[in-house]
Amino acid sequence: MRLILLGPPGAGKGTQAQGLADHFGIVHISTGDMFRAAIKNETALGLQAKAFSDAGTLVPDDVTIGIVRERLGQSDCHEGFLLDGFPRTLVQAEALAEILKELEISLNAAVNVQVDRPLLMARLTGRRVCRQCGATYHIVFNPPPQEDQCGKCGGELYQRKDDNEETCEKRLDVYQRETAPLIEYYARKGILRNIQGDQEIDQVLADILAALQRDLT
Ligand code: AP5
Ligand code: MG
Ligand code: ZN
Repeated sequence: MRLILLGPPGAGKGTQAQGLADHFGIVHISTGDMFRAAIKNETALGLQAKAFSDAGTLVPDDVTIGIVRERLGQSDCHEGFLLDGFPRTLVQAEALAEILKELEISLNAAVNVQVDRPLLMARLTGRRVCRQCGATYHIVFNPPPQEDQCGKCGGELYQRKDDNEETCEKRLDVYQRETAPLIEYYARKGILRNIQGDQEIDQVLADILAALQRDLT
């Protein structure tokens, strides 16, 4: 299964990606996570990405396309993959089409998780992430069993630097301008699956799996 997860910041891409990757036994590739890891480790990529990521604007296409091209060429992607947060511009979408053509594979579906803006803001500003295992929580909608502590590994929870109100507004604007046109792009290719993201986490996953069932049979 080869999937992309579309949807605005806070739609639940990362949350759903975990369940989907487990279900299909495929790798979860999040460009946002790759950038955050590079920033933390102060690599050359991290130095390039930091200012954009902190400001809530997009890392330049050539940089982003380069890391995805390299990642998709690795052997663990042979069984399938789930791209979370890529592509995010039409240039990236065209580059992905090229990369897949070279690899002689195609996408099964583009899953578009839909959530309205006021709820997105509430989700983003209340998010907490585990420093150790990357698990995602929400202080109201999906609280950890113990405050500030990961229920899976006991790691410390932190708030992403770009999850403050001002930067979230910016990210949602960037999404509207740069990424929302991809919905139409994948609809035209006939692989778009729209999912209502403003439901319980398990229900969203069930809806995605039901929508994908049509691609498997
Ligand atoms: P990235 O890390 O991809 O951030 P994003 O797209 O803004 O998306 P988020 O991770 O914020 O949201 P999500 O949909 O994963 O939501 P989540 O599941 O966590 O990108 C960060 C930055 O990296 C970008 O700004 C850019 O600078 C750079 N970048 C990344 N990719 C790039 C690219 N391709 N090109 C250029 N630059 C790029 O859920 C959010 C919250 O809601 C959580 O608290 C969760 O617990 C809660 N929640 C989730 N689902 C539910 C539900 N059903 N009900 C209740 N609560 C829920
Ligand atoms: Mg995410
Ligand atoms: Zn953890």
